[in-house]
Amino acid sequence: MSFLTSVLRKVCLAMVAVAFLVGIFAVDAPTASAETYTIKMGANNGMLQFEPAKLAIKPGDTVEWVINKVPPHNIVFDDKSIPGQDKALAKSLSHQQLMMGPSEKVSTTFPTNIAPGEYTYFCAPHRSAGMTGKIIVGS
Ligand code: CU
Repeated sequence: MSFLTSVLRKVCLAMVAVAFLVGIFAVDAPTASAETYTIKMGANNGMLQFEPAKLAIKPGDTVEWVINKVPPHNIVFDDKSIPGQDKALAKSLSHQQLMMGPSEKVSTTFPTNIAPGEYTYFCAPHRSAGMTGKIIVGS
């Protein structure tokens, strides 16, 4: 066997070993169970709605809101409409700054110790038009 073939064989074996180890760790990573969901702000048909308007998640999951149609939009969680009526939590979940640009987005990771229940939010400019959404946090 030539020297070059021998080196190539060793490199190949090393690459297979690395791929194998990466595969094992990717499966075992603790973050593998946390999901990221996307909610469109403004329905495809131009209605002032969140899409989906209702979303079930688990603590630790992330919700991403993306500008889709008819901006501006924002995300406001009212402390009176979340479990525990916690003002600080409502504020930390919210994104009050108006978003205008196409595909502009914000995201909220719901804390792993958050209380299960219904978290209702709205878009401030379009609240009276019925632009409200609900995140249902499971246990
Ligand atoms: Cu809006």
